[in-house]
Amino acid sequence: KEIHEQPKAIRDTMTGRVSLNEKINLGDFKLTSEELENMDRIYIVACGTAYNAGLMGKVAIEDLARIPVEVAIASEFRYRDPLITDRTLIIVVSQSGETADTLAVLRDGKKQGARVLAITNVVGSSVSREAHDVIYTLAGPEIAVASTKAYVTQLAAFYILGLYFASLKETMTNEEIETIKAELLQIPNKIDKALKMKDSLQKFASTHYNHKDMYFLGRGLDYAVAMEGSLKLKEISYIHCDAYAGGELKHGPIALIEKNTAVITLLTQESLKDKMISNVREVSTRGGNIFAVVNEGDTTTKEVVDDLVYIPKTIDILTPLISVVPLQLISYYVAKQKGCDVDKPRNLAKSVTVE
Ligand code: G6P
Repeated sequence: KEIHEQPKAIRDTMTGRVSLNEKINLGDFKLTSEELENMDRIYIVACGTAYNAGLMGKVAIEDLARIPVEVAIASEFRYRDPLITDRTLIIVVSQSGETADTLAVLRDGKKQGARVLAITNVVGSSVSREAHDVIYTLAGPEIAVASTKAYVTQLAAFYILGLYFASLKETMTNEEIETIKAELLQIPNKIDKALKMKDSLQKFASTHYNHKDMYFLGRGLDYAVAMEGSLKLKEISYIHCDAYAGGELKHGPIALIEKNTAVITLLTQESLKDKMISNVREVSTRGGNIFAVVNEGDTTTKEVVDDLVYIPKTIDILTPLISVVPLQLISYYVAKQKGCDVDKPRNLAKSVTVE
């Protein structure tokens, strides 16, 4: 149900904030160009799926606004001695707004003088009350333990923020910003389409649900999505999985590939596709069984993989909003095949409010 609510969740998150021929409107979160220029660094800090969204957030802000960003896991960051000054912006991301480690980072950051911006889904949550500024994701209540619609709205929030910073810093022309906004506004319809492409995903699940291990491979943004796909699958199907950057295959993971090892690959980033195809060949030479997520119109990948799903095409930087959908569905179908409870997986909590 929540996977299918994603088009609406993204639409709601964009409403009032992204409109053609109007400036990005983030409500009360307003910065001047000087304030942005004056910032010494930006950290994005979060846990779990929200951390994975942060990986994408870094790319969105760096690519669109050319500002360096560091992403950190909250439980690591809080015990480090990070470089925080009164010119630092800390962006905490939390669906629930109650995660203990994320909240600790927010509080410590404030004490050290940082400005804290929260991206959260819950109005009135601790994070929303204590941060200096808030961007709400409008995913609606998310009940299932494994996060889906909150994740895509967190991505949407980061794209919006990236565009906001880009216009303040004038790193993009108005035309370029309008083009991305127009594509963003199309995303809900494209996710609707992606949600209908289920056949090959069901087939993959019914063939591979008995595996003990699975691997995810991708490069660039596809790697960040692979991390989230891998987290989803392990959370609800209890299959051990790992995500690797394609280029790292040779540095270890390839030793694990044997006949029938299931490998889910993403090849949505045009500039990296040839490199990924080489990785796919390396896996298939060793007998691995490869499932691929590719863009509509891709004619080459099907020659080198065992099966694949086509997703509606958008511009490369926005693809994660769509490419994560088949991965969520694979997790769902695999878990169903195994008879697992997809909403309440064992040992996991929706919100981790204690250490
Ligand atoms: C738990 C949930 C995850 C979530 C993470 C962070 O592990 O099971 O789905 O991503 O906490 O939660 P938050 O509410 O801070 O986003």
